[in-house]
Amino acid sequence: MDESAWADLKRAALEARANAYAPYSGFAVGAALLGESGRVFTGCNVENASYGATICAERAALAAAVVAGERELRALVIASGAKSPTPPCGICRQCLTELAPGLAIRSYAGDARGDYELASLFPEAFGRGNLD
Ligand code: THU
Repeated sequence: MDESAWADLKRAALEARANAYAPYSGFAVGAALLGESGRVFTGCNVENASYGATICAERAALAAAVVAGERELRALVIASGAKSPTPPCGICRQCLTELAPGLAIRSYAGDARGDYELASLFPEAFGRGNLD
């Protein structure tokens, strides 16, 4: 994927981050997913007074893609205000693997960048094949 596409995703993730609802952790996260169609889907974290009901930015973006009919996903950018780039949490790894096991991921904390491959972050995932 070319750098301008990554830059577009970063911008979209930062825009989504501005809408994060994180009154409990104060940790605002934005995510932007690029679909095979070229469309971009965004999400932010949505916290809840029942803490465990919180939705992460990555899963919000995944849901937005599926709602729009996009199921082929190429790349994900995460934007947080952490000290260093953060990979997706375990629940998001599981959810993203469902549709995009080969997803390319970039995470930004300010200008600092981390690059990941979902397949490496989450090997031996439980998947639909395990339901046979
Ligand atoms: N969070 C995300 O949205 N994405 C991540 O990759 C890590 C964690 C959210 C969940 C919670 O609202 C806050 O960040 C602190 O964990």
